Amino acid sequence: MPVATLEVIDGIGLITIDSPPVNALGVDVRRGLDAAIRESLAADDVNAIVLTCGGRTFFAGADISEFGKPLERPDLLEVLATIENSAKPVIAAIHGTALGGGCETAIVCHYRIAVPSARVGLPEVNLGLLPSAGGTQRLPRLVGVEQAMEIVSGGAPIAAPQALELGMVDALAREGQLRQDAIAFARRILQEGRPLVRVRDRQELVAAARGKPEIYAKFLAKNANSFRGRRAPFNIVKAIEAAAELPFDEGMKREAELFREVHDSAESAAQRYYFFAERDTARIPDIGNDVRPLPVKSVGVIGAGTMGGGIAMNFLNAGIPVTLVEMNQAALERGLATIRRNYESTAHKGRMTLEAVEKRMAAITPSVDLAAVTNVDLVIEAIYEEIGIKKDLFARLDAIVRARAILASNTSFLNLDVIADATRRPEDVVGLHFFSPANVMRLLEVVRGAKTRKQVVATAMSLARTIRKVPVLSRVGYGFIANRVMAARMAEADSLVLEGPTPTEVDRAIYEFGFAMGPFRMIDLVGLDVIGRDSDERTLAGDLVKRGRLGQKMNGGFYDYDEKRNPTPSAVAAEVIAEFAASKGVRNTGPLQADEIVARLLYPVVNEGARVLEEGIALRASDIDVACVLGYGWPVQTGGPMFWGDTVGLSRIVEGLRARGVRPANLLIEKAANGGSFTR
Ligand code: 3HC
Repeated sequence: MPVATLEVIDGIGLITIDSPPVNALGVDVRRGLDAAIRESLAADDVNAIVLTCGGRTFFAGADISEFGKPLERPDLLEVLATIENSAKPVIAAIHGTALGGGCETAIVCHYRIAVPSARVGLPEVNLGLLPSAGGTQRLPRLVGVEQAMEIVSGGAPIAAPQALELGMVDALAREGQLRQDAIAFARRILQEGRPLVRVRDRQELVAAARGKPEIYAKFLAKNANSFRGRRAPFNIVKAIEAAAELPFDEGMKREAELFREVHDSAESAAQRYYFFAERDTARIPDIGNDVRPLPVKSVGVIGAGTMGGGIAMNFLNAGIPVTLVEMNQAALERGLATIRRNYESTAHKGRMTLEAVEKRMAAITPSVDLAAVTNVDLVIEAIYEEIGIKKDLFARLDAIVRARAILASNTSFLNLDVIADATRRPEDVVGLHFFSPANVMRLLEVVRGAKTRKQVVATAMSLARTIRKVPVLSRVGYGFIANRVMAARMAEADSLVLEGPTPTEVDRAIYEFGFAMGPFRMIDLVGLDVIGRDSDERTLAGDLVKRGRLGQKMNGGFYDYDEKRNPTPSAVAAEVIAEFAASKGVRNTGPLQADEIVARLLYPVVNEGARVLEEGIALRASDIDVACVLGYGWPVQTGGPMFWGDTVGLSRIVEGLRARGVRPANLLIEKAANGGSFTR
């Protein structure tokens, strides 16, 4: 099949590009598009051109795998120049997602028509990049400088109806009728003799922002928190400022310079790596496409607490009915009320209708009788973390659910194989480890027990996508992947504050590295009584709990809090830390530089990641990165712990660990010695 086809329908040249899966603008697509446009321009029987794509989407952007490689011609700018300068009107007909270079192709056309379900946007920032085919120069001319900054630095796609309001598209087609409606639209343009609109020539919106540097300063100040530690958003703002300040062609040159800067950055290399890493998690070497997932049309959730309720919401959101079981009516009603409250709060923010809230609530079958789950396809247990209680529940479930129903545990730390062996069907037992809040966090660790059969694993992996999660496969091991490797950070943080650096200094270093908050702020938020409650060992958090300090929720923890929950250093915590250090005989060696704190806390995470790989708990290093980015907010611009470890250099990490008396994992030593890496 050729990539590009041209049909002439009564004076309209219909170009269809078809390059599965997403019509990325790689060299073959650029060549095909260029040739089809030139052919249409040369054809006497073509008066207007409609550009559309086959398959599931309009162009999803540049081909990300081409970045960092020598570019083959024609480049996208050359193809777009031919479209823009065409003497015949070119109309983009959009379905699916017009993203990045795809959106830039659409906005270089003279007109745009989209089906209502289409989305358009410039997500380059998610790859640590900025648009480089004129997006930063043309979008402000369509929607204004401020709106353009929001769209390009945020990277989120915009639904077609909103894009119409903003001026990014000119008309909506009927769903499923794009081709006909686009051709009719093209005819109307010809009949009405409408002018060829070149977005580059539009001046009003950019002229309105000219000579107003305060616009950009204000925008950067407003987003200081989320832009921290990144380069792409700053270059995006500079490029958009250039759109307002410079003539179009000079603005394009500025965009190219700013793009080159970010293209060569470690941040973009990390984010491009991460893009593919998130998609690789679904590949399981011994489970091919011939293993078909089982249908999951109904789900039972046991436990309506915070986790159970959040888990249930994922399925309700995906249109899958949920039977929700609790031990008594009061707990059940509390759980239902929380789910309702969460939905209503989303509705109040305008993100769903009250009708949709009722529809989702109606899809719940509440019950205090375990027998209510007898006929569901999948049961997920989200009850108290205690092995005896879980074994008992699984044995009871085993006795009542139908043959081949899947039994899943949401355990975070317990041994799934022991739970599975409490049933007569361990091959149908799997771990589905959600992260809290379960309706929000995108990570789902799928835990493959020693006996879990392939079809059950395949079902869990595919189900994750249905509920819009990213699945990461883990074997059974204490803490699975994300909790286990990130626990190494907490352990180091605890021992570091005994030596002099304060919780504030430690948290600041980790925040500046790019995490949303440092480990002490996090533990205060989660609750000091929650973390480590299953251990008898004396800990700093345990000592604080003994003083009645449970964290933000009660009397403060490592910090004191005012009524607005602003933290300040705590004298009591300092005293507890000093006493603890004295009891362990740890000497105060004074403060450390931020980079030393980062190394001290995060080298052990890389080390633990190496062990997780060595033990075969994770399939690949990039899976560990995805788990930490999605489960713990590890800053994606560093790629995740394993990619970051490679960036730092594995020999340096080995030396750093040894200097602290920590034994590096064998795999880490081996890779460091042969100049190997985890992710490159
Ligand atoms: N380049 C190369 N491969 C791409 C790609 C791209 N732009 N977009 C998607 N793919 C690949 C994926 O890797 C995946 O491959 P696999 O099946 O081998 O794993 C396959 O296409 C399908 O992708 P998804 O699994 O992500 O499919 P979804 O249907 O879930 O999502 C999508 C489709 C919304 C288009 C999503 O793939 C996406 O967001 N793609 C990236 C879009 C993007 O970032 N575009 C900007 C690129 S940079 C750019 O354009 C620069 C410009 O300024 C010149």
